[in-house]
Amino acid sequence: MKSKVLFFLTFFAFATQGILAQSMSDAALDSLMAKMSVEEKVGQMTQIDLGVIAEGGICALKQPQQINLAKLREAITKYKIGSILNVGCGSGTISRADWSSLLQTIHKENKKLSRLQIPILYGIDAIHGANYTKGATLFPQQIGQAATWNPLLVEKANAVSAYETRATGIPWNFSPVLDLGRQPLWSRFFETYGEDVCLASAMAHAAIRGLQGDSVSSKYKVAACMKHFLGYSFSLSGKDRTPVWLPEREMRAYFLPTFQEAIATGAKTVMINSGDINGTPVHANYDILTTLLRDELKFEGVAVTDWEDIYKLENLHRVAANKKDAVKMAIMAGVDMSMVPNDFQFCDLLVQLVKEGAIPESRLDLSVRRILRLKRDLGLFSETMFANKDYPNFGSATFANLSYQTASESITLLKNKERILPLRDTKEKLLVCGPAAHSLNLLNGAWTHTWQGVDTTTNTPGKKTILQALQQQWGSAIVYEKGASLDALQEEEQLLGKAKTVDKIVVCLGELPCTEVPGNIKSLDLPEAQLQLVKQLAATGKPIILVCCFNRPRILTPIIPLVAAIVYAYLPGDEGGMAIADCLLGKVNPSGKLPFTYPAASNDLVHYDRKRTEDLDIDFSMNAYQPSFDFGFGLSYTQFTYTPIIISADTLTKGSKILVNCKVKNTGAVKGAEVVQLYYNDLVASITPSVKKLTAFQKIVLAPNEEQRVQFELDAAHFSFINKNNERVTEPGWIELLIDQQKKLIYVE
Ligand code: BGC
Repeated sequence: MKSKVLFFLTFFAFATQGILAQSMSDAALDSLMAKMSVEEKVGQMTQIDLGVIAEGGICALKQPQQINLAKLREAITKYKIGSILNVGCGSGTISRADWSSLLQTIHKENKKLSRLQIPILYGIDAIHGANYTKGATLFPQQIGQAATWNPLLVEKANAVSAYETRATGIPWNFSPVLDLGRQPLWSRFFETYGEDVCLASAMAHAAIRGLQGDSVSSKYKVAACMKHFLGYSFSLSGKDRTPVWLPEREMRAYFLPTFQEAIATGAKTVMINSGDINGTPVHANYDILTTLLRDELKFEGVAVTDWEDIYKLENLHRVAANKKDAVKMAIMAGVDMSMVPNDFQFCDLLVQLVKEGAIPESRLDLSVRRILRLKRDLGLFSETMFANKDYPNFGSATFANLSYQTASESITLLKNKERILPLRDTKEKLLVCGPAAHSLNLLNGAWTHTWQGVDTTTNTPGKKTILQALQQQWGSAIVYEKGASLDALQEEEQLLGKAKTVDKIVVCLGELPCTEVPGNIKSLDLPEAQLQLVKQLAATGKPIILVCCFNRPRILTPIIPLVAAIVYAYLPGDEGGMAIADCLLGKVNPSGKLPFTYPAASNDLVHYDRKRTEDLDIDFSMNAYQPSFDFGFGLSYTQFTYTPIIISADTLTKGSKILVNCKVKNTGAVKGAEVVQLYYNDLVASITPSVKKLTAFQKIVLAPNEEQRVQFELDAAHFSFINKNNERVTEPGWIELLIDQQKKLIYVE
């Protein structure tokens, strides 16, 4: 423990030393801009995929990727491109040495050939770590990070992501996802911080702090990218990139606050939602991209499109008659940079539009100024890349440890009948089975070495699956039989034969790594093969411990009664195998809490912060909130008791604060962490209030018998909501505070 603390002190001190002096003033950038031709300005607003300038061609890249000099030179001299992204479609992770040679070639050629030598900004999806760099540290996906309810840990994880992304030579990370996870069917649910505004906003703040620190000019920091602005996660069908119906009040109440928090924290860039809201594609929506983002939220950073989304205004959304109209619409709506990404038509069309007077050059200047300032803030005008030796901690054991700690703190114990866990008797024989038992890919999910994360050849050597981690600790008493793939039962007799010989069964269910449109599914129900697997195992009468590694909450209702314990692991990353094994064996005491409401049925998707639907005289119990597990739920190997809530005053007067506290005691036999969750219930409000809403939380660690007072400082903003005029207000009235089973009324003036 001590050495870890020391490490982080040293790591953060090191990180601040890396801050470079900012060399160019805003005035100097403006005079640089004054020298730029329209073509040069348009080039700055253009981002192409690596595939456009690499050997082999788009989606057919040579491995490892190599620059095609002729193509690169054309991109620089003819199109004057300002930005490049990713590994190239169809390809995957490469070594730091390969990255270094690619990036050096790009920067060298740009220096040699571009008239004004404006550095090229490289961006990448380092989603749960620098996942396109061999040997990088892979953390739990965001949903698991949210389940830790530990923002400081999430900040540290993001600091490692930033460090390793910069160590790769890349200063811009398309992360974090700040879309609220209120549609569990969505293929990118695992990329969110869950369903709750308060929790996700705390995580948004932590992620931006971790990625950007105090200055992105540090060689250990990157520019973050909040994505995807706005409302992307809440499609009507639950499928990726399908229409969203979202009234402004709900948009402001649920989907905007994470972005507001990230902007307040200083996020440098934003990526735009690919879809349409209420019939207007966001890439063509002036109200969202300019009136809201710029005029109201005062965001001054760079707004980049998502993949090919300007062209999609023509070929998918059909709001533009041709590509030229599409470019005009998007630029006039407020786009700064187009992730084109596979050709140069955008450049030609935008130049034409400006030369014809359809877009004023002053409009380009707004965007180019933001882009140049970002490049300046990142220190790119003085140094585009740093030496390998500046990053001694890349892929280090210390970073892996932090990933392990994050995975450990994310694990959420949903059931533990008769305290079957932790397993205590090392002489017991265990059958380990199920599709996720022996797969690193199923622990990591998508955005792992490749976009969809299914390639098994690129996994980091030495990282352990659940089976390998258990074998390491439990030795020869482990029997393995896969039993089922994700969607087909296998070797039934062999499995049941082995099940009969053991004392307990650990069955690990999973979901195919996937994201975006390829990850769309039609139902949250568990695939039949995995259901049958558990049912057959249950028929043996042996106690079953269920481990779940899912992209989204797959329905467990039919099997909950059949298993003794449920260990919900989300997508815990490269150290997930070790964390899960240690949790089963009691070396880790689970402290994760669900960052979403766990539905009991695929069509019964009600969030914990629901409106009242059941307090009626007649029996409307069919309207009741009946999830499998509540938001914020998670068991521990110890128990905690709460004393009644104490408040510093009965009334929260205007402009004042109120202190709310209670004592929490660990009454069990082992050390454990507890998340103290403060909810409130607005008794009467002009907009139907939620039954309860999270407004603050704190994670504490307690030794057996230890008691701690936990205090929250609340002001009127903690009880605010969006009224019918779409304004955030706190109305006077009675509020009930809720912590665990304790309640207390206060009056808000
Ligand atoms: C995704 C973004 C991602 C971008 C670049 C898009 O398809 O929606 O989240 O950052 O690709 O890879």
